[in-house]
Amino acid sequence: MTIGVPRSEGLLETIELQRMGCALNGSTVYDEVLMAVAADVRAGGACVQVLGPWADAPFADAIVLRFLGAVHHLVLEGRLPALAGQFPSAGGQPDRRLRATFLAAVREQADVLVPLMAEGVQTNEVGRSASLLGGFLELARLGLPLRVLEPGASAGLNLRFDHYRYDAGGASFGPADSPLRFVDPWPGSAPPLDAPLEVCERVGCDLEPIDPATPAGRLRLRSYVWPDQVERLARLDAALEVAAAVPARVERADAAAWLAERTAVPVPGVLTVVAHSIMFQYLTPAARQAMLAAIDAAGRRATPDAPFAWLRMEPGGERAEIRLTTWPGAASRLLATSSFHGPPIHWRPTATATPASNVE
Ligand SMILES: C[S@@+](CC[C@H](N)C(=O)[O-])C[C@H]1O[C@@H](n2cnc3c(N)ncnc32)[C@H](O)[C@@H]1O
Repeated sequence: MTIGVPRSEGLLETIELQRMGCALNGSTVYDEVLMAVAADVRAGGACVQVLGPWADAPFADAIVLRFLGAVHHLVLEGRLPALAGQFPSAGGQPDRRLRATFLAAVREQADVLVPLMAEGVQTNEVGRSASLLGGFLELARLGLPLRVLEPGASAGLNLRFDHYRYDAGGASFGPADSPLRFVDPWPGSAPPLDAPLEVCERVGCDLEPIDPATPAGRLRLRSYVWPDQVERLARLDAALEVAAAVPARVERADAAAWLAERTAVPVPGVLTVVAHSIMFQYLTPAARQAMLAAIDAAGRRATPDAPFAWLRMEPGGERAEIRLTTWPGAASRLLATSSFHGPPIHWRPTATATPASNVE
């Protein structure tokens, strides 16, 4: 990441790209706010003080989302009551004062916002548990307890996937009293939900793990949810409630090295599954190769008594693809596609296994 001299042209381009991304993904609040931010940058206002030092950072560093997350953080902490009145996440309703109120907040808190910009965007989207559930159930049908390893786990909320409730027509999976409930996440056919599924171990790693048990960790996760995506926020809050009751460790480590270590010795009597969502794109090309090599090596070591699986939800064009590979045999399948945040999920009931010579 480069911290450079403010160059408003590049910065304006970054803001506009991000604005379009927010508009396309349904955030009218951020769409409008970013129009105001662009105008403020053109006029040399307070947004330049906060965003200017990052003007040369590549788009992938998500500096605009960091900025918006930092402001949202202050709103959720109760430090910007006028802006809270405009943000649904804080109980408000946006009106014609949104743009001016946002810019006034930035002017008021610029000195606080500048250091907050150093924090990377961190999201842990639990809707992805619904996308992955069908894959876990396929594996459970093999009759062994699941040892779940999740690289890029963030706060580990998706490691608790079996403690959420999923309803599909008359069928269901998960505890009836779970605070997090997915109702009909599969608009077409749903995967069979009746497999007896037992998780014997759940552990993840992340370069920057978040502890969902701390107020700071919870606030950080909430601040990167866009303020008008109240359904996602409600899902997150429900998952945080589950996390308080169900332990799942997330270790600070790089995915490839961690996976190599965790899968070095096959574990008999359990099915070891590496499961991940929307993390692969954040790896450097070398780190991707190393992670694939670790998975391939673990697959080659698998035996009928110590099987291994790789379940992933990663971008496949406009939607996310949920794929499963199992060893021994390296059989690979596309199980489903879904939105990048989870439901709606299009389950593919007729998917058949095809041998894969090696990992993708
Ligand atoms: C977009 S978030 C997704 C988090 C979670 N998998 C989910 O679906 O909600 C990507 C995560 O990958 C982590 N990450 C990026 N590079 C990593 C690496 N080399 N090793 C481990 N984690 C990494 C980030 O810190 C971040 O938590």
